Amino acid sequence: MKKRAFSGVQPSGVLHLGNYFGAIKRFTDFQDDYDCFFCIVDLHSITVYQDPEELPKLINDTALYYLAAGLDPQKATLFVQSDVPCHAELSWMLECVSTFGELSRMTQFKDKSKGKESFSSGLFTYPVLMAADILLYDTDVVPVGEDQKQHVELCRDLAQRFNSRYGETFKVPEAVIPEFGARIKSLQNPDKKMSKSDPNPLGYISLSDSKDDIVNKIRRAVTDSGREIVYSPEDKPAIANLMTIYSLCTGLEFSEIEEQFEGKGYAAFKQALADAIIETLAPVQEKYREYAESGIISSILKQGAEKANEVSSQVLKRAKQRMGLSLLLDPTKRKLS
Ligand code: AMP
Ligand code: TRP
Repeated sequence: MKKRAFSGVQPSGVLHLGNYFGAIKRFTDFQDDYDCFFCIVDLHSITVYQDPEELPKLINDTALYYLAAGLDPQKATLFVQSDVPCHAELSWMLECVSTFGELSRMTQFKDKSKGKESFSSGLFTYPVLMAADILLYDTDVVPVGEDQKQHVELCRDLAQRFNSRYGETFKVPEAVIPEFGARIKSLQNPDKKMSKSDPNPLGYISLSDSKDDIVNKIRRAVTDSGREIVYSPEDKPAIANLMTIYSLCTGLEFSEIEEQFEGKGYAAFKQALADAIIETLAPVQEKYREYAESGIISSILKQGAEKANEVSSQVLKRAKQRMGLSLLLDPTKRKLS
């Protein structure tokens, strides 16, 4: 039997090159060898306010980009988190196994709550819901970017704690972090990761950016002193970031890129980089349009939800049994409308 892979992406805004190389594109590399479940985590997104008019569009768009990046719904299960009630249910059960102290140490929570007078409790318990997502599918591997490593560690801790307290219930998963490309940096500040919450759109390249946008953003991307194209993340963090993107787009090694641009300077490199990004995104954008026009997405998400409910309800039932909770409503017998 194939091993299982699970990952999630928030429908909270435009997807950017970091999401593409760090997550979505990588998922497609798993679908041949793993039984894959990919989840659009709308329940995570509402830890900060989402406009109810906009959220359905964001969910739909995110699903379309998964498909456009090459996700094959015949091979992988694509679904929306809130279509599968087991996630919220197991999350509560795991909250009662996690501690306030360990959740307080999550760096993403610290970053997102820093300086804010008020934030939702959901922002604090967010990593527990993520653990529930993963554990409900007897997941073996979790492909994520570097920033999610700590959350997957927490998930492992919770699974082990639950198993030792209540008896063997959950498989303990492992994070799979790409060797490089795990952290694409902002084009305006190589100390920060490329992020869709960046107020300056020059910092990220969105998957929907036009050719002109891409050329303009790369032209205005910050560089380091000097003019040589050499890969040195310590001395030349901005160039190293641009070279990483170039390498991901072209498949070239850093040494080959250095050779290609020897004596050519930043302008020539940026021109080539913009072209490489345009070439990478063109087929994604075209497939996105095709899928959007076909209207097929709703049936893909419905099938995905059916499969996800089938698998996760069995694991939830197992966990409820272990904890001694009531099973008058059998989770495995619930049906989608
Ligand atoms: P998010 O957009 O934060 O929900 O992230 C969705 C997925 O993209 C996660 O697996 C992240 O680790 C990954 N990701 C987000 N930003 C970056 C980035 N700048 N570089 C690489 N991967 C990223
Ligand atoms: N927290 C992840 C992020 O922000 C998204 C996510 C939610 C996720 N549930 C998951 C990723 C389960 C992997 C597995 O990127």
